[in-house]
Amino acid sequence: MDKQSLSTNLFMDKQSLSTNLFMDKQSLSTNLFMDKAKELQKIREDMERDKNLPLISKPEDIIPGDGNPGAEIVFIGEAGGYHESIQRKPFVGNAGKFLDQLLRSINIPRESVYITNMVKTRPPENRDPLPEELETYSKYLDREIEVIQPKVIVTLGRFSMGKFLPTARISGVHGKKFVVKWEDKDLVIVPMYHPAAALRNGEVMRQIREDFLKLPSILEEMKNKEDEVGQLKTEQMKLV
Ligand code: URA
Repeated sequence: MDKQSLSTNLFMDKQSLSTNLFMDKQSLSTNLFMDKAKELQKIREDMERDKNLPLISKPEDIIPGDGNPGAEIVFIGEAGGYHESIQRKPFVGNAGKFLDQLLRSINIPRESVYITNMVKTRPPENRDPLPEELETYSKYLDREIEVIQPKVIVTLGRFSMGKFLPTARISGVHGKKFVVKWEDKDLVIVPMYHPAAALRNGEVMRQIREDFLKLPSILEEMKNKEDEVGQLKTEQMKLV
């Protein structure tokens, strides 16, 4: 074989290799997305069947988490209210409209994130969730986190903050990034005020708006860190 056709063949092999790799990566991420969607659906069905969950009298009382199974950011609120219980979707009332506004302010579409609550139903008269209610529902939230593996978790209000940072006070920690060990994994937690609290208090509204503006750079930082770890692993594989 002459030099010219040898290099043409090599070029074409390289081309098809990188096309195949690209397609493998594509189908891998499509498969992963589908797997995550299926797992989230299973969590929803398990909750609807769970006879030990408090505050529900029928499966339709459950307000499951909602959003992108491949989300990089997960938002965790407290519990549903009236509108959430009718639409069976978290954050669709006034607090939800404000959350949508906050997401728009940083150009993150609501459809790209995942939104859920500590308690996946509506407590009577929108009272605060009780410790035993938080505890009983927590295994389902843990499963959602395990499936989605978000790069950043934003807690909205003191109840979801308390799950990861039990001794923190929201006034001292809002808008800051914390790395928390959670079931052998490092989770990145950014506590924020609850959007409903912001609707009641102008200063809280100013602070939550400011805190949201920090989210894109926190996310970028986490993605860069992941890339660095990925590259390091590839380098180490080459040495083996
Ligand atoms: N407040 C919450 O914490 N969750 C909702 O879904 C709505 C309001």
